[in-house]
Amino acid sequence: MQESTSSRAEDYTVRHCGPDDIPSVINVNTLTLPEHYSDYFYYDILKDFPSTFLLAEQGGRVVGYIMCRIEYGLSMTKRFGLAKKGHIISIAVLEEYRNRGIGSRLIRDALEEIRKTSGKECYLEVRTTNKGAIELYEKLGLKVGSTLHGYYKDGESAYTMVMPL
Ligand SMILES: CC(C)(COP(=O)(O)OP(=O)(O)OC[C@H]1O[C@@H](n2cnc3c(N)ncnc32)[C@H](O)[C@@H]1OP(=O)(O)O)[C@@H](O)C(=O)NCCC(=O)NCCS
Repeated sequence: MQESTSSRAEDYTVRHCGPDDIPSVINVNTLTLPEHYSDYFYYDILKDFPSTFLLAEQGGRVVGYIMCRIEYGLSMTKRFGLAKKGHIISIAVLEEYRNRGIGSRLIRDALEEIRKTSGKECYLEVRTTNKGAIELYEKLGLKVGSTLHGYYKDGESAYTMVMPL
């Protein structure tokens, strides 16, 4: 991962998350997503998968994050076989910082970190109504896989989106 400013927005940096950043990450999650997790969950993911837990910072403020899990299981990009997979559990950017390339940068850097773990594919779940996020993921090379009916607590369905690495 390149820990430097982006070319599209000169004023933010992307870096690895540390334990002290978790309250700020939780703040971004609370403000942006309907899916919330226990504090313990964030610390646990950070402990187990630190290289793929990244955040974007601007002016000393955490404005976005991505957290992933490295899993081993049935391949989602090949018909048969097992694969090491990076699972993007959650990504969010504060509303006032969107459409500046921060979300794309977080995903690209996370994909690079997943590749470094010998991950061969990446996947995520996204609400079927989250057109903006789906469009963004498609631009980055992810493709809609299956539909998970009633996946979310409120009954909404999800698409899985997958890409080989
Ligand atoms: C999805 C999210 C992380 C993207 O972050 P971002 O920093 O705005 O992403 P980028 O600036 O890199 O990319 C923006 C791209 O997203 C897509 N996009 C975003 N909002 C969109 C909308 N309302 N309609 C269509 N496309 C949209 C476009 O493809 C856009 O590309 P463009 O700038 O070339 O037009 C951010 O919108 C967010 O935090 N949303 C709320 C949380 C969420 O839905 N997370 C995903 C859960 S699976």
